[in-house]
Amino acid sequence: MTLSGGRPNGSAKESTRCIHIRVLGVAPFVDDNPDPEVVEVSLLAAPMNVTFDDGRVVPMFAFNGQIPGPLLQAKLGDRVIVHFTNQLSEPTTIHWHGVRVSDSMDGSPRISSPIQPGESFTYDFVVRDAGSFWYHPHMHSNLQVEMGLYGPIVVRGSADPEFDVERFFTVDDLLLDANGRVAAPLATPMESHHGRIGNHLFTNGRLDAVSLPAIEAGQVERWRLVNAANARTMSLSLSGARFRVIGTDGGLLRAPYTVQRLEMASGQRYDLEVVFDEPGHVALSSLVLTADADGQAREIAVPIVETEVSPSTRAPRVITYPASQVPELRAASAEVRLELDSTGGGHHASHLGWRINGQMHPEAPIFTIPEGSAVRLLFVNRDAPEHPFHLHGQFFEILENGQRSTREPGLKDTVLVPGRATVEVLAYLDNPGRWMLHCHILEHAELGMMAEYIVNPAAAENRP
Ligand code: C2O
Ligand code: CU
Ligand code: CU
Repeated sequence: MTLSGGRPNGSAKESTRCIHIRVLGVAPFVDDNPDPEVVEVSLLAAPMNVTFDDGRVVPMFAFNGQIPGPLLQAKLGDRVIVHFTNQLSEPTTIHWHGVRVSDSMDGSPRISSPIQPGESFTYDFVVRDAGSFWYHPHMHSNLQVEMGLYGPIVVRGSADPEFDVERFFTVDDLLLDANGRVAAPLATPMESHHGRIGNHLFTNGRLDAVSLPAIEAGQVERWRLVNAANARTMSLSLSGARFRVIGTDGGLLRAPYTVQRLEMASGQRYDLEVVFDEPGHVALSSLVLTADADGQAREIAVPIVETEVSPSTRAPRVITYPASQVPELRAASAEVRLELDSTGGGHHASHLGWRINGQMHPEAPIFTIPEGSAVRLLFVNRDAPEHPFHLHGQFFEILENGQRSTREPGLKDTVLVPGRATVEVLAYLDNPGRWMLHCHILEHAELGMMAEYIVNPAAAENRP
């Protein structure tokens, strides 16, 4: 998307106003379509030798020659057309994670045939929700996503508050082997058990911290974060600035909230309001476990974004969020229990199997529900590893004792189900079609924890 200067003069002023806010951090797509209501871009997946700042060269995959892939930017209601070409040596598809497209555009290899090497496919959909989303392949994704195939998406709503600056950070980790290559997938029992945990943090395509130019005190920014790691739940903290959580998977929250540490599971997004009050050093850090010399596990904070705040007399602007009434929870018309467990020979088997209701990659849909239903989904985790569970095509709210969660409010498409715990959500199945549901630990998904569910279209006269 060309953010300024690239659009012809004829564009409708009011409807394009908001798109001129620049999102920093990731180079955007070039929008080839002059129509202000259409975003039309080209996307190419191909192998690439990535040269990092320290001189090392790592063979990876990239979208349009960059990691992360270009920022896709649209406003609510826009039609998005993506001409995709696969130049990998293996089939792939693109999934628009969190964007409520139709099932035929969702990148499910069960519905639309995979795009073979050398082939192209045009994705075409309308964006119906404002928020922070992302795109990534949905085939062999434990390898393809790890190799660098993912990119951010911003959909703006007309009532989006304005910030001094917006930034997008793709938060990831990367597992490099002793030869400095991306390690082969699923080579260790550990990886099939807990998913692939990288030995390098990898933020906006950098192996070291992203260093932002100095920021003047008084600036207020919107930071959009996605966890693009195969498996690692990112535990984030911010020092030197104040922040509030203002949005998540399904867009802006009804009310911002504060946390000390932000736990962001694979696939999830968080939008932060960051206020730079005081001059000094600012760091967004990821807390990681390392082993001491004596083998003791220790938590350290590794900076992934850093900047300096310079003094100024400017007072931070006060952002007002669109006040909205909290609607009653919709009444659930059904309850579905999803038992999550594993099978196989334990730590010495090379591959565990991960199951949903006793099956790996079940053929038959897990459940079928009419469009417009609210359904209580119970994720019952029988094992110690956690499962960030993801539903395609819809949003849900996390429940605590039958009520809306106050710790994790807002519309979600991915929920972290901790080890040996049960988590309940209320899913709004408003988007008809055949949809995937799976663990977003991409190794677990690859090893069986991926299924389908069906939302039957309502009769035309019952449609909203
Ligand atoms: Cu981000 Cu089906 O995944
Ligand atoms: Cu998804
Ligand atoms: Cu899992």
